[in-house]
Amino acid sequence: MTVDVEQVRTELIEFGSLSIQYDERVLRPRRWTTAQSAWASALLRDAPDGPVLELCSGVGHIGLLAMVGESRPLVLVDSSRIACDHAAANAERSGIASPVDIRCGAMDEQIGEDERFALIIADPPWVRSEDIADHQDDPDHAIDGGTDGLDLARTCLDIIGTHLADRGSAVLQLGNLAQVAAISDHVADRPDLGLRLAEHRSYEDRGVLVLLVR
Ligand SMILES: C[S@@+](CC[C@H](N)C(=O)[O-])C[C@H]1O[C@@H](n2cnc3c(N)ncnc32)[C@H](O)[C@@H]1O
Repeated sequence: MTVDVEQVRTELIEFGSLSIQYDERVLRPRRWTTAQSAWASALLRDAPDGPVLELCSGVGHIGLLAMVGESRPLVLVDSSRIACDHAAANAERSGIASPVDIRCGAMDEQIGEDERFALIIADPPWVRSEDIADHQDDPDHAIDGGTDGLDLARTCLDIIGTHLADRGSAVLQLGNLAQVAAISDHVADRPDLGLRLAEHRSYEDRGVLVLLVR
């Protein structure tokens, strides 16, 4: 019997000051998302004590870059075993002082009831299911956000609402301004989340970052 063993090549990309590994089975790190790391890093200067959480962390680059110069613990959560394995290698290579805890699985099953985070970074899939065929190079699990593209973003909001520390903040990535409006309505309709959409920053057709605070 012959067995075809698929050859998968590990690639390296510069992401800010970091060198990040990935392969074709995960989303290729997008350089514009250094902006999410930079915003998170700036927010940490005035953040309360406590660890940092990244939801849908992929190979870990956004959270790891945000933690350069920091020593707080970092928790990375992603459902892809391949992404988590790359994240572990990237954490090692980054040389950051923070202890990095990588949790592989569905994000709504990875956070302990009592855990609170000073800062939460979230980068959920945000492409509408009907549009994923337009992104042939990207794995479906990394981009498929359901009917309106926001299924996983709403899960992130539930987690942020429960696990964000008092005076903490969260930076959520979305695809476009229409999604920002939908998420703004969702937060307004869900006062139980205890969140306020404080600001958004648009990066042309590449994506939008949203700041959520208590
Ligand atoms: C848009 S990608 C972002 C990855 C990385 N932050 C980046 O910029 O390349 C979304 C990530 O969410 C992960 N994901 C999808 N559904 C998830 C879930 N229910 N729980 C945790 N991670 C999930 C995917 O494996 C993928 O790595």
